[in-house]
Amino acid sequence: MDSLRSKENLNQFERIFGKTNSHPRLFGAPARINIIGEHVDYLGGIVLPAAIDFSVQVFIRPNQTSYYQFHSVTYQETVKVEKPFHQNSNSPWTDYITGVIQEMEKLGFSIPGFDLLVDGDIPQGSGLSSSAALEVVTGFAISESFGLGIKKETIAVIGQKAENNFVGTKCGIMDQFIIAVGKANDCISLNTDTLQYTYHHFDLNEYEFYLINSNVKHNLKDSAYNQRRLECESALKKIQAKFPKFLQLYDVTLSDEELQLCGLSLEEKKRTIHVTSERERTKQVIQGLESNQLESVGNALFATHESLSKNFEVSCEETDFIVSTLKALGAVGARMIGGGFGGCVLVLDKKDHFAKINEEMKKSYQQKFNLALDFYKFQISDGVKEISI
Ligand code: GLA
Repeated sequence: MDSLRSKENLNQFERIFGKTNSHPRLFGAPARINIIGEHVDYLGGIVLPAAIDFSVQVFIRPNQTSYYQFHSVTYQETVKVEKPFHQNSNSPWTDYITGVIQEMEKLGFSIPGFDLLVDGDIPQGSGLSSSAALEVVTGFAISESFGLGIKKETIAVIGQKAENNFVGTKCGIMDQFIIAVGKANDCISLNTDTLQYTYHHFDLNEYEFYLINSNVKHNLKDSAYNQRRLECESALKKIQAKFPKFLQLYDVTLSDEELQLCGLSLEEKKRTIHVTSERERTKQVIQGLESNQLESVGNALFATHESLSKNFEVSCEETDFIVSTLKALGAVGARMIGGGFGGCVLVLDKKDHFAKINEEMKKSYQQKFNLALDFYKFQISDGVKEISI
């Protein structure tokens, strides 16, 4: 978001909440992509996300009361929130903020009243984690404003808990984590079991990553997400009954015959196949990025899409069409990213191929679904931070 928009938001903050001697502070959190490791971050898997330069920004100022006031620029709505906290079905956007305050208080922090204005340019429902960005920026802004000094890694966990316990989506830790610790030009490999992570820098030379937004968001998204998580948990329980050494579904290394002995339903078996095969593809991508073998990275991206579509069943007709058309047009690799059921496709391709792909994809998608496609080029950027204006 440009600084002009931030300045307008500051004026709007002071119009709504009044002008005082204490200046509101501005904080921003990015969106994220995930190169590989999809639907494994609640199963102890390795993920490879990076922060990108879309953002959610908040202005915040303590208000010396015991209540909280939030204003959304997107919804042009101001909401007052008091304890005890409840979900707000009329203004669901406030739940991401309230949930963070609640989780901070559960950790023993006492959070005094404040006024907050939020604005953002992360397309919602696009699989780029606008909700995690709102959680993380809220947690960081509160921590900095009241001098709580909470580590960014802990802010990420607070954000995830807000989403799990208050909003009700049983998401993993990937989105909040990368949005908290991201660094310009680097992705991280994050072990979601131990929360150990390493920064990776890679050169793409004549290749590039970019995003295509399918502009669809299917409404079974959240319920199906929670359902997939339950299926993975029940698969692990059945596997552990026969093979107790496996503590996480991601670590299961069993032959087809051995899996057969576990009495998995067809769904549980397919989910297990996706999760365990993603482990191999992730190794292939890390190696490929490190050794500059980008065709191999691209093949793994296509293979992950196939598995997310057929085994994990979180794709949809529109994103399947985008990926198969890209493949037919000779793109190096592509796959849906995030929770699924619409949203964005991540593409890896040669830079000089972009104009042709852009033109042909837009034409064929419009013909097939009567819908426009959006293409996003992005920069890998920093995680949550204070912004000076
Ligand atoms: C959503 C969730 C993440 C992760 C991805 C799928 O983005 O918020 O925790 O599970 O889906 O990899």
